[in-house]
Amino acid sequence: MQSKLKAICPIQDLQRVSYLSRAINFKAQPCSAIIFLFNGKPYSYINHCMHMHRPLNCEQDAVFDESGKYLRCSMHGFIFDPETGVCQSPVCYGQRLQSLRLQEIDGILYFAEKHLSAND
Ligand code: FES
Repeated sequence: MQSKLKAICPIQDLQRVSYLSRAINFKAQPCSAIIFLFNGKPYSYINHCMHMHRPLNCEQDAVFDESGKYLRCSMHGFIFDPETGVCQSPVCYGQRLQSLRLQEIDGILYFAEKHLSAND
């Protein structure tokens, strides 16, 4: 059965910002998702650092490091591969952010996760 799609935004909107966040429910838990373009491709993850269970942007309004090559948690600076969500920092090395499947249809980006509902 096809999962129900939840609209996020026109994909062009992501070209103007470094990331967007959306309030969602995932597996019946309220949380937030980050959505961004990296090398022209859209990605989304639950905004939850496994180190001490904080949102990546808890200390500053950013989810990327200065290089723009890695996601970075602003709490203690752990970094993550934007394409896989895998943590590159020693303490949590190899653990990954929860990725969220996306789908683009006619220029609109959607969540394509069956355990997700969007809070509008
Ligand atoms: S809570 Fe994210 S690096 Fe510590």
